[in-house]
Amino acid sequence: MLVNAKDILKESKVIQFNINNLEWTKWILEECNYLHKNVILGVSSKAINYMGGPNTVFLLVEGLMKDLNIDIKVCLHLDHGKDVNLCKKCIDAGFTSVMFDGSSLSMDDNIKCTREVKEYASLFNVTVEGEVGVIGGALPDALAVNNFVLKTNVDMIAFAMGTVHGYGHMDINWTLLDNVKKNTNVPLVLHGGSGISNDTLKLLINHGIDKININTDLQFVFSKAIRRFLNMNSDVYDPRVILGSGELALKNEVKNKLDVLDGRCLD
Ligand code: 13P
Repeated sequence: MLVNAKDILKESKVIQFNINNLEWTKWILEECNYLHKNVILGVSSKAINYMGGPNTVFLLVEGLMKDLNIDIKVCLHLDHGKDVNLCKKCIDAGFTSVMFDGSSLSMDDNIKCTREVKEYASLFNVTVEGEVGVIGGALPDALAVNNFVLKTNVDMIAFAMGTVHGYGHMDINWTLLDNVKKNTNVPLVLHGGSGISNDTLKLLINHGIDKININTDLQFVFSKAIRRFLNMNSDVYDPRVILGSGELALKNEVKNKLDVLDGRCLD
């Protein structure tokens, strides 16, 4: 069933796996369904453009859920929407959740634009994630995060806490996380979940993180498996076979990350 993020988060913590193409979307849905884990499918504006646009992405997810008999809860979420109009377009297309990323704006403008997205989203029962501070950059203080949540009424909040997108240097500010948790009563989102050990991800959950976003780790294992396959099979040209050689690696990584939610660590 396609639901908003609140519907999933009221039941349990969740991993947001970003999708980049049809294959990833299909395999993530299959693996999460097999393991009975609700999932948030995140999609960036670049990935949306790559796949054709918000309507294509929505219909792809809807179609796969029907054809594959997916019976877990699935949320389709715009990741890092930097433009109010893109957020609205995704909502119009059927997305059940959107992130407005106003991290490059002044705090006042970030609040103003996030509120505009939230007001529109509320008409369609769509959830909204906001961002305070800059992921991989300036950290906010805990009171500013809470103030942002109160003024925008967002359903979940991402804030810079020392993680980075991709595999750069990170330095998690645990005190900030604890203070935000103490002061803020909406679900907390961790961006830049790749390159973090399962033990640390588990600890982040114990300290109050509700949603963990993963993209790069999936990209890494997928491309590594395909590169290996092509190096050993230079005569293969069927795109289904080439891309399909990344399936097992991607599904194994999805399973590995989902184990974090069960408190099991493979590290
Ligand atoms: P990674 O690419 O580091 O996994 O981060 C993903 C993310 O935060 C998407 O918003």
